[in-house]
Order: sequence, then C-alpha cells, then structure tokens
Amino acid sequence: MSQPTIESILQEKRLFNPPPAFSQQATIKTLEEYEQLYQRAQADPQTFWAELAQKELHWFEKWHTVLDWQPPFAQWFVGGKLNISYNCLDRHLLTWRRNKAALIWEGEPGDSRTYTYAQLHREVCQFANGLKQLGVQKGDVVGIYMPMIPEAAIAMLACARIGAPHTVVFGGFSAEALRDRLNDGKAKLVITADGGWRKDAIVPLKAQVDNALANGAVPSIEQVLVVARTQQPIEMQPGRDHWWHDLRQGVSADCPAEPMDSEAMLFILYTSGSTGKPKGVVHTTGGYNLYTHMTMKWVFDIQDTDVYWCTADVGWITGHSYIVYGPLSNGATSLMYEGAPRASNPGCFWDVIEKYGVNTFYTAPTAIRAFIRMGEHLPKARDLSSLRLLGTVGEPINPEAWMWYYRVIGNEQCPIVDTWWQTETGGHMLTPLPGAIATKPGSATRPFPGIIADVVDLAGNTVPAGEGGYLVIKHPWPGMMRTVYGDPDRFRRSYWEHIPPIDGQAVYFAGDGARKDEDGYFWVMGRVDDVISVSGHRLGTMEIESALVSHAAVAEAAVVGRPDEVKGEDIVAFVTLEGNYTPSEELIKTLKQHVVNEIGALARPSEIRFSDALPKTRSGKIMRRLLRSLASGEEVSGDTSTLEDRSVLDKLREGS
Ligand code: WTA
Repeated sequence: MSQPTIESILQEKRLFNPPPAFSQQATIKTLEEYEQLYQRAQADPQTFWAELAQKELHWFEKWHTVLDWQPPFAQWFVGGKLNISYNCLDRHLLTWRRNKAALIWEGEPGDSRTYTYAQLHREVCQFANGLKQLGVQKGDVVGIYMPMIPEAAIAMLACARIGAPHTVVFGGFSAEALRDRLNDGKAKLVITADGGWRKDAIVPLKAQVDNALANGAVPSIEQVLVVARTQQPIEMQPGRDHWWHDLRQGVSADCPAEPMDSEAMLFILYTSGSTGKPKGVVHTTGGYNLYTHMTMKWVFDIQDTDVYWCTADVGWITGHSYIVYGPLSNGATSLMYEGAPRASNPGCFWDVIEKYGVNTFYTAPTAIRAFIRMGEHLPKARDLSSLRLLGTVGEPINPEAWMWYYRVIGNEQCPIVDTWWQTETGGHMLTPLPGAIATKPGSATRPFPGIIADVVDLAGNTVPAGEGGYLVIKHPWPGMMRTVYGDPDRFRRSYWEHIPPIDGQAVYFAGDGARKDEDGYFWVMGRVDDVISVSGHRLGTMEIESALVSHAAVAEAAVVGRPDEVKGEDIVAFVTLEGNYTPSEELIKTLKQHVVNEIGALARPSEIRFSDALPKTRSGKIMRRLLRSLASGEEVSGDTSTLEDRSVLDKLREGS
C-alpha cells in the first residue's frame, strides 16, 4: 500500500454513482441540482451567500455589505451582528430540538454522557459566566488545552458566547509548544483538565500547563481554570488556579449571547507552514458560521435523525468545524469520543458505531490504513448497518484504502465523501455532495458551490487536464482565514504571492499539488512545500529542525518526510553535531526526546542519521530532494550538478 502517485491515479477509472436510495432522501439529490447551485454561486457569489446567510443563520442585526474584498483581506457580512453560540444552541431551544441530543460523549474508560440542546445550553451559559467571574472580557483571548471531553466543546462555545476568541492547543502538544502559542495569542486565561486519557495512560495536562507557565514565561496569563477528569493529584497554585467544579457553585446559568460583529475574531488556531513558527490562523464569526453550517448540511447531508461522528480531536480544525460548530449550528447530534484504537481495544471504533447506531462516520486515511492492518474481523464482528455515509479528511487517500473503506465499513452501500480542505479554509472546499456527485477512489471530486478552484502553473496558467500543477482558489469565500494573527504580511506572503494575480484577481495558493482530470475531477497529490503530514498531522520540517538545533549537541539539522504505509509519512532527521559530541545510540534517544519536549510526541523523528555535513547548493541551501531520496532508500536521481561538495552525498550514502 503506497501513497498515490500521478501514474497510479491516472489509471484509476472506477466510478461509483450515488446509491439511488441515498439520493432520494438527500438534500441535494442530483448532479443537475449541484451544477445549478454551482453556476448560480459562480455567476453571483454575493447574492448566493447572502441568501443562505439570511435563511440559515440567526442575525441580531443584518449586514450592510455582503463582501468587502481588499485582496488579500476579505470581510463578509460587514455590519451584521450574530453569535455562533446562539446559532448553535439558543435558536434550537425554540423548536422541538430543545430535548434532542446535541452531544453524545463516550469516554475512553467506558463512561458516557449525553447532553440535550437544553442541557448543553445551560452548561455553556454557566461556563461563560464562570469565565466572566474570572475576569474574562469580550476580546480577551482564552487558551484551551483539553482532553476530548464535553467540557472542551462547552469551553469553546462559552468563549464564543461572551466574545472571547479561543485558541485551542491540541493536548498532544508539549508544554513548550503550548507556551509559544499562548504567548503569541497573548492569552489571558487557560482552560485545562487535571489530565486526559490517551491509549490507557494519563496525559498530565495540568502539569504541562504548569511547566508552560513556570517562571512567568507567559506573562499575559492571569488565571487557570481546571476541569476534573482523571483525578490524579495535581498542584493548584492559590490565586491563579481554579477548579471548575468549585467555581461553578453559585454561578448563574443565565448568560445571554453577546451580539458580535460578523468580522469579530472567533478563534485563532495554530498550524504549521514551510517557514518559521506555526502561524495563528484567524477565523471570524459570520463567514465561518455560515461556511461550516452549509458544508455540514450539504456534504454530510445531515438529517435530523442522524447520529454523526467525526473522530478528530477538537484541537484541530476538523474538530472545530465538524465536531462543534458545523453540527450544532445545524441542530445535529454530534458524537465525541475520547479514546483511540489501541492494543487493549483495537475494535473500539466499531463498538462505538454499534453502541450508538452511528449513521455518518468521518475519519482520516491514516486511521483507515491502520484498520486494514488490524484486520477485517474487527469491524465484521460488529453491526455497522446503521451507517449511511462515510467521510475522509487530512491527506490523500490511496484507492486501495478507499475501496476497503467502501467495502468493509460501508458494505458497498455508503457514499464516501473525500473532503479536501485546510485549517485556513475553515471548511470543505473540494468534496463530493454525496447524493449528487459520483465518486472516484482517491479523488476529492469537485468544488463546493461558491468555490472557484483551479490547477495552475507558477505563472498562473491553467494546466491541461491530466497534468500536475498547483491548487489555487480564485474567489474569496465566507470561511476563508482572515489573516495570520499579529502578522498580516505573513498572511500575504504565505498564501497570496506564490502565484501572480489571474485576470487581475488575487489567488489563494493552498500549498498542495493537484491535477484535474477530463471530467473536471480534482486529484490532490499532497504538499508542495516543506510541510509533512504524519498520521494526517501537519508539521513544518523547519519547526522540527529548530527543535533539534536548540539542543547543545546539534550544529545543523535537516528534516524530511519518508513515505510510510500507515502514517502517510514519517520523520527522518539528518544531523551534524557540534565538535565535542560524538554519534551514539544514547544521543539519538536524547535528541528524539528533545523534539518530543519541544513540540510533542507527534513530531518524534522515526530516525536520526548523523553526518559530517549536509548536501547544499553553492548558495548554501540544503538540498532536501536528495535527502528525501536517501531517507527512503531510493537511488538519488535528477540533477545534482548544483551540489557544492559531491563527496557529502557519497558519505551520506555510505552511512545509510
Ligand atoms: C491535506 C485538515 C488530500 C492537504 C482539514 C492540506 C488532504 C492539508 C485532504 C491541510 C484530502 C486535507 N485529500 N489532501 N481530502 N484533506 N489534506 O490544515 O495537504 O490540518 O493542505 O487541515 O491536509 O491540513 P490541515
């Protein structure tokens, strides 16, 4: 099983029409319907989005301008006022959904909770008042470093309710990574838990927060709010740290949603790029609410009777858009699971589907490839007949994995939505609408209505069908990121300057390579920059290199991705040592652990190779292409004439 290559997918001719029974009950039932929507949106995007915003969301005040586009800065529904927590909760209380399950939660040790919309609303209001009591005000940034427990979603919605932008940091990131993000966002308060369950062990989240904040390293943080989850002893610093179960005593559950400007910042979410520190991707209220709402509605074809489950962590954009905001804005039932398949319980995902009668299941190709390894007998031993729709996200899915998903999990009855999108795009961009668009294994098919996507060369010319190029988006859309937090220049440089304007229009450069086939279907090939994807998690090679060189032993480091059957890519680091250090197994261990401490376990290199020098061009640029070939044991091919010192390559080869 390998990652798709242009050659392999060019030969992929299988086509799967939407099952008629699915299409009949779907919101978008036919290809014609999709095409009409698409054309209407293309002809007049502002009217298209404005009509949906009016129909699908509640506004305290209507906007005066649909789109203000000063490339690359967009503002949507300018002058409008709304609150996403109101749209996710309060408005459903006025309907029969009041007592419908909003959140079903299954904990790793087997405990579970269900919140109806009325209950979730109450919890969120109380949490919001708790935050206010701790001095959080509209506009203050709040850090969230939580396990996958309902309080993570409650905390996000509570922040949104009072207009405090949240910045969720994935619980797998280290104290160092947390510290950088809290500092960059100038967070005033951080919400955490004593610990979280991860593969039968406790992740000491509160202790990590203590490390991050030690010696006043995050001067903006005034308070820490702690939710009890794992009950192991932790230290509480008087005056700074507060237990949520203590604070909530006597806190009112009456907290009207704050009317927010459509363009008020809703959250910052950090993501890796090819250069520098992770970027704080900024999303705002109105456009993000509308875009996650519409994609949830049409891509997942969400129905009121559905139990919908997305396996992502709320620390990533997928969790933000498709566990919390998209589903709840639609009044859907969203399932949240704390666990992950592990040696002690490899079939846990199938148990959860059977137990709750899950209808829609959304996961990552890396997980699917791991399931294939674990064996068909696990899903076959469970009743998965409730499933009606499957989805994938995070990386290209190889056709073999797609077929396995279709056959073994979907019993050849469920359409698969392969959704291409990014932290930056807020929601799905290229994706089938499952009742309307026939699927091809490995293709994210066609753009969502309102999305003008293309594959171009570096000069901005559309490349012919079947040829590889760069994936770009040609018109602003409501869910797009607004800026890099605190660094608008970086926003411009990272996304808008790689490709020159096309027909006078600024274009968004996604950082992915793709091709379009004769049917207009998109095939995304993966990153074209120095971003690698390890188990679907985005990491910048430079971030890992910076972590390595921050160790006293390391003079220079170069990190590359190596294809891996399950993880997609794994991390290989080439390291040159400072003069007084010598290579050893011990040092490899130390350096791997150092990266874990600096970033988190997700960035641990699989392999570290020592070398006297790294292959560089005459201008001093590390030739990663050569290192990638070396790491994967391939013959080094292509042009090596720009290499400054050819003997370096020979030595590296010998050493491998
Ligand atoms: C990759 C995750 C192929 C891509 C939502 C993108 C995909 C990056 C797909 C964004 C897909 C995501 N097919 N590649 N269906 N979905 N990607 O920001 O390289 O964590 O640029 O957002 O994941 O990763 P991010």
